[in-house]
Amino acid sequence: MEIASKVRIVPGRMISSGTIVDRGLEGVVVGSTDLSSVDGAVGRLTYRGYDIHDLAAYAGFEEVCYLLLFGQLPNSFQLADFNVRLAANRALPPQLTDLMKATPAGAWPMDVLRTAVSALALFTPHLEDGTHLSNPRAAIHLIAKTPAIVAAWDRIRRGLEPIAPEPHLSTAANFLYMRTGRAPGPEAERALDTYLVLLADHSYNASTFAARVTASTRADIYAAATSAVATLEGDLHGGAPGKVMAAILEAGTPDRAEEYVRATLARGERIMGMGHREYKIRDPRAQHLEAMAKALGGVSDGTWYDVARALEDAADRVLREEKPGSAIFANVEFYTAPTLYALGIPPDEFTCLFACARMAGWTAHILEQLANNRLIRPQAAYTGAGVTPWVPLERRGAGKADRG
Ligand code: COA
Repeated sequence: MEIASKVRIVPGRMISSGTIVDRGLEGVVVGSTDLSSVDGAVGRLTYRGYDIHDLAAYAGFEEVCYLLLFGQLPNSFQLADFNVRLAANRALPPQLTDLMKATPAGAWPMDVLRTAVSALALFTPHLEDGTHLSNPRAAIHLIAKTPAIVAAWDRIRRGLEPIAPEPHLSTAANFLYMRTGRAPGPEAERALDTYLVLLADHSYNASTFAARVTASTRADIYAAATSAVATLEGDLHGGAPGKVMAAILEAGTPDRAEEYVRATLARGERIMGMGHREYKIRDPRAQHLEAMAKALGGVSDGTWYDVARALEDAADRVLREEKPGSAIFANVEFYTAPTLYALGIPPDEFTCLFACARMAGWTAHILEQLANNRLIRPQAAYTGAGVTPWVPLERRGAGKADRG
């Protein structure tokens, strides 16, 4: 083919008529943001200039939401007001709860969350052109309702009635309360709150980029947030921690960790929770999640932390041996698994928890995109057939059978 012959494919990249095509956009700068910065070489993550280590130590999730949405840390009055606004937005429309009750109990939690986030637009007034207002109020609506959806589905699929939100509780404590009907102890609340802080934003990751692409068409914040939830699901992004937990459970004991790693790699599979497109050293968020998983051993069965630690050590050792020079280290998802498991959250809901945190970053990015918008519309190197004469129906051969 005339056009295809001009394209040379090399790992990760294609060179087309002298144009370098990066299939994964690795290292390609496609926009700018004031929201967060990732320095993968030294392992630094900041939200609006604040280091993730300081935020993990001192900030609550609500402060981080405010920081991302409004550009500065709130003072105590602003924070109190913001908490009231979040609490006032948590309750779900009864029709949405009814929709979830009509959903098969075996439905995957991320499918339910994606559908429900999209459905929130149905219960929100729209403008004449069908779009909804995209503003901080809508962002707060989405941030407040996402954990409520996850907690409600957790109960509905177990045949239980959803529990109404408790306005005096933090986002983290209220989520755990809405699952069980009991307010959590301070250690569990702090752990989930820190998890939400750590996962709130991460520059132009795949789901955030998807949200920005959708917003760039001037679709509204509900449409863009739905794109983001959909994009989070895959295990190369937010879908990994459930699989990390499956690995921990399958290995079962620390002494079986290396056998598990070797067998997984021998099957040509990846070790979930290891490796990152940006970080070429250990993900800076992993140390906080590891510390929490370890500490939570005190309130649950501590075994899972020990197995996770042994798996990370084994993966480090074996990957260095099998893929020398490839810099594959624990990412944020690795210790998310034993942390959330210790909090009683089932593995198939782990990605939903990621969405609860990242809704803060997604909505802030969507508003940032809309504030200085330009349609995001890249090009592709065409690798198909050259210009081909039309073939009438009666003269077409069998070709490749459609086995779809
Ligand atoms: N286990 C085993 N090998 C891995 C690996 C892992 N977790 N992560 C990367 N590699 C290997 C790849 O197989 C590839 O090896 P090869 O060159 O011999 O083919 C090499 O490292 C580069 O991988 P690549 O897919 O190009 O890197 P990337 O930057 O696109 O990948 C991830 C980043 C996160 C997608 C990747 O590390 C991964 O799949 N991790 C597991 C899933 C995961 O933890 N997802 C959550 C991410 S936060």
